[in-house]
Amino acid sequence: MNRTIINLPGDGIGRVVLESAIRVLDAAGFQAEYIEADIGWEFWVKEGNPLPDRTIQLLEKHKVGLFGAITSKPKEEAASELSPELQGKGLVYSSPIVGLRQHFDLDICIRPCKTYPGNPLNFIRRGRGGIVEEPEVDVVIFRQNTEGLYGGVEWHNPGKQVHDALMTHPKFVKNFGRVPPEELAISTRIFTKKATERILRAAFNHANQYGYKSVTVCEKPNVIRETSGMMFRMAKKIREEYPGIELWNTNIDAQMMWLTKNPEEYGVIVAGNMFGDIVSDGFAGLIGGLGFACSANLGEKVAVFEPTHGSAPKYAGYEVSIVNPIAMIASACMMLDHLGEYELAGRIRKAVAEVIAEGSVRTYDMMKMPGKPEVIKQGAASTVRMTDAIIQKLK
Ligand code: NAI
Ligand code: MG
Repeated sequence: MNRTIINLPGDGIGRVVLESAIRVLDAAGFQAEYIEADIGWEFWVKEGNPLPDRTIQLLEKHKVGLFGAITSKPKEEAASELSPELQGKGLVYSSPIVGLRQHFDLDICIRPCKTYPGNPLNFIRRGRGGIVEEPEVDVVIFRQNTEGLYGGVEWHNPGKQVHDALMTHPKFVKNFGRVPPEELAISTRIFTKKATERILRAAFNHANQYGYKSVTVCEKPNVIRETSGMMFRMAKKIREEYPGIELWNTNIDAQMMWLTKNPEEYGVIVAGNMFGDIVSDGFAGLIGGLGFACSANLGEKVAVFEPTHGSAPKYAGYEVSIVNPIAMIASACMMLDHLGEYELAGRIRKAVAEVIAEGSVRTYDMMKMPGKPEVIKQGAASTVRMTDAIIQKLK
């Protein structure tokens, strides 16, 4: 079956890792037509829009995007880099990946963190009797991607209507009622039932489909009673439909403390936007960090797959690229799963695992080297060599 995939290389190292992923997809025999779509810094500078409408239209039509990475800069710096004819028009930069998540309501973010045996970056800890243990982590984090603390409903020096509304809450009156509005900064944490139900159901379905024994709600319901509390109450209800799966409840702070103590005990973890962001970076650190962390952003109609890392501008100009393509390749495997191409995804994952386990081809991050062009002379694999090694295993 032939499919159309929208390539969103972006900028910085986004382009090189995406190219690697497509070479691997081709080598595995994935049949697809790719259409490259414009996104990122170049289009901000040239057109004043890092996410042109034509890109939105392509995704709307073809539904599946593979995204590399983009560069974001603070507002003033971004404005100063606009091409001369666009200067002074009041254009304001905003991140195109955040724009995509909002436009297509990509509310389900999935971030798997699975140990590759033999990865020298794997977390190790001291066990009983001082022995060294290397726990095998196999966690999939479901992060609500559009609401909560990152929903953008915020005020500094709130206007009268907002202040009046807040004054109807006894806790506001007691704790903040006497603070002059100009000294108040307020960020809201809004959860809707619809989005909360969608992320919870996605988490339970995943646990069910892939045989995870537990779903952990990682929030703080004892303190944040309305939002975290609602998520946990809804999880209890939904869990009744999944008798084979246990529902666990952890607080984000304790979860981070336990991160290194018993990470192998967790299966699927589900959280709101900010706590999901935190817990997924935490677990990613146990399995090798940014060179390995992949993700999916799923909406009802459109899905975009991307590595967690950014555009790493300091490595973008290297004549021989040194960055690790595995996070991008693993993101492409998530795309294959989404398309029902489980066999292809499995073969690529196996090829990646074999290269890591053999250990003769390792990018600079896997060798714990500071990233410099010289790492290649010192024995680190380039992006292309790592990609070639994975492709070799597919043959
Ligand atoms: P970054 O993820 O680009 O890089 C941080 C460091 O992680 C790099 O210096 C490098 O040491 C390492 N790293 C990243 N990817 C790697 C890979 N594939 N292999 C080996 N090492 C890797 O984050 P940073 O430096 O904070 O941001 C750079 C730019 O990327 C900024 O403009 C930022 O806004 C943007 N960004 C974009 C994201 C996206 O496209 N979704 C996500 C995060 C940041
Ligand atoms: Mg993050």
